[in-house]
Amino acid sequence: MTFQTPFTFRNGLVARDRLVMAPMTTYSGNPDFTVSEAELAYYQLRSRSIGTVITAATSVSDAAQAFPLQMSLKADYYIASQRQLAQTIQAEGALAITQLHHGGRMNDPSLHADHRNIVSASAVPADRPNSVTPRALTTHEVIATIDDFAQAVRRAITAGFDGAELHGANTYLLQQFFSPHSNRRTDAYGGSLTKRMTFAGALIDACQHVIATHATRPFLLGYRFSPEELEEPGITLEDTEAFVRFLMTKKLDFLHVSLRHYRQSSSKNPADKTKIVDRLKPIITDAVPFFGVGGIETLDDVEAALEDGYDFVATGMTLLADPDWGVRLRAKQLPRKVLDVATMPKPLYERLKRNATYFEQNGYTFSD
Ligand SMILES: Cc1cc2nc3c(=O)[nH]c(=O)nc-3n(C[C@H](O)[C@H](O)[C@H](O)COP(=O)(O)O)c2cc1C
Repeated sequence: MTFQTPFTFRNGLVARDRLVMAPMTTYSGNPDFTVSEAELAYYQLRSRSIGTVITAATSVSDAAQAFPLQMSLKADYYIASQRQLAQTIQAEGALAITQLHHGGRMNDPSLHADHRNIVSASAVPADRPNSVTPRALTTHEVIATIDDFAQAVRRAITAGFDGAELHGANTYLLQQFFSPHSNRRTDAYGGSLTKRMTFAGALIDACQHVIATHATRPFLLGYRFSPEELEEPGITLEDTEAFVRFLMTKKLDFLHVSLRHYRQSSSKNPADKTKIVDRLKPIITDAVPFFGVGGIETLDDVEAALEDGYDFVATGMTLLADPDWGVRLRAKQLPRKVLDVATMPKPLYERLKRNATYFEQNGYTFSD
């Protein structure tokens, strides 16, 4: 198997290769959170050379909004705009997967005039500068939040997407329900390790029910997770192994681990040198396609990641800088590492420039 080998999902959908655009927030929607022309052009350019595109984190409700000008599926109003996005990607031959998102306690507070709308599993602020203390969702609101995701899945189906990824990674609401740091609940959704999985389980069930009742053609449902948290208490790799075992009972169409580097080992316990993929792949086996990410740039990286056991390789920064990444890999060339304002929406470019040190440390330069 090479990165060019097509993959047929259990429901029959075919990805033309193993390359994935990692979900990346663009900060570049229209003021009403519909998809802008600049975003459509940005996705079109990047969909040409790879098999699957996961779109930017997409809010499922007003309370879910974490970033400025974040795209949305929070109401039927957004279906037409998201349909344009799905069709733009599909017209280039790639599968279009939306990433459904709720920021929870990590929402940008400046976007929520009333901070009571910043919610989480429990009223515990993140261990970050300027974090606000969120309001704990009531049990009734937890059920309503799950329904917000399910309704967003219904809209994604109507918009013609090939699937949805539930954003359970990178410290946002779904992870906040699994984390012992942010989830101190005493109802059905918190307490023991098992009870902290209740939210994810109910969410997946609700989304799968919507797919079973609404989809008239195959629609994928995947779950992205972060395997560790540095906070104390925080998610450990042992917790994640248990969580992945649980997710494996849910008949998802793919699992996607969010890592800084695809070969990394524990950040919490530097003495533990076992690669995270080596811990998770034996649980996932070949039963569910496994997406890896983090620092995948060259053909050597792609081949090493597939050799390690990932079925798909996702890339963020590399595709930001080089929309023709897939073409480059096929030609055995190194990717271009210049972040070019001509190939992306201006607000995204400006946001990247605000984090210039991070990109420069990774060998990227900016076009101006
Ligand atoms: C500008 C930018 C925006 C991102 N937005 C999201 C997002 O919306 N959802 C998500 O799950 N991850 C997001 N990420 C993380 C990426 O999906 C990816 O996991 C990370 O960049 C590591 O992969 P890379 O080394 O190939 O860039 C973002 C990353 C970048 C650079």
